[in-house]
Amino acid sequence: MIIIPGPASRGLGERIAAKLGVDAHPVEHRVFPDGESYIRLTAPVEGEAAVIVQTTSPPQDARLMQLFMMAATAADLGAESVVCVVPYLAYARQDKRFLDGEALSLDVVLKLLEDAGADVLIVIDAHNADSLRRVQRRHGIRVENLSAIPLLAEHLRERSYGGAYSLAPDEGAVHLAEMGGKVLGGTSDFFVKRRDRRTGEIEMVVKDLDIRGRDAVVFDDIISSGGTMARAVEGLKRQGAERVAAACTHGLFMGDAEKRIREAGADLIVATDTVESKFSAVSVARIIAERLKEVTP
Ligand code: R5P
Repeated sequence: MIIIPGPASRGLGERIAAKLGVDAHPVEHRVFPDGESYIRLTAPVEGEAAVIVQTTSPPQDARLMQLFMMAATAADLGAESVVCVVPYLAYARQDKRFLDGEALSLDVVLKLLEDAGADVLIVIDAHNADSLRRVQRRHGIRVENLSAIPLLAEHLRERSYGGAYSLAPDEGAVHLAEMGGKVLGGTSDFFVKRRDRRTGEIEMVVKDLDIRGRDAVVFDDIISSGGTMARAVEGLKRQGAERVAAACTHGLFMGDAEKRIREAGADLIVATDTVESKFSAVSVARIIAERLKEVTP
């Protein structure tokens, strides 16, 4: 097995290689004056399982193009199989055609990856696992969707959040809160939106839980603008929660996301290294390394 960290995930690629006890072979990468990427594989891949590690957080399009080039080059140079580890899979939120003529972005990404020669795609906490499975059926690529939520919960348990309430920002993400709750040992639930009669503003509340004086953790797959997380944290503080931790797998933290979440009252913010940021206190290297042992010959 040859581990090939791409330009967007050099650190994570090296951590995965270390877990497997093998060398990492980062690609050579330059950007031409017009913005195009130059990619060169630095180790022979013929007859090997070539494992490319490349996240696709912003700038998504450039990173996807680099990913396609790495996969296509490995396939072209005779790799026995091409495994793409794409911890944060961009374009996964546009998985249905809501209006006539819309591009099915997730479908396009999978098609291009397959055409580039990828045999296996490993992702972490895909935005909608059901949609990913449905779209995958239209392609020949095998998709493995792992979750980092238990790792985030373990991290929080070690920081005395054991027994805290685990919450999801909406009903669709309740499985995240349930996974977190199993590790933390507390109750799990999700938020509902309620319109304040006086101000007309939407607020997020947890209905049947008495969280006064208790710790809580909000688990989400993505923090992008921070709006969802900030509203959830604010709602918990308003309902009397003691400490509130904001935990997500993919911390994009666009614009003033951190400020919004802190101002809402979060006592702790934690994310993983699927997207590197100052909040990446939890690494997904171990779960990826374990899955790689299963999917590579
Ligand atoms: C939504 O369905 C996702 O699970 C996240 O809650 C959302 O993408 C977070 O976005 P933002 O940080 O911009 O509110």
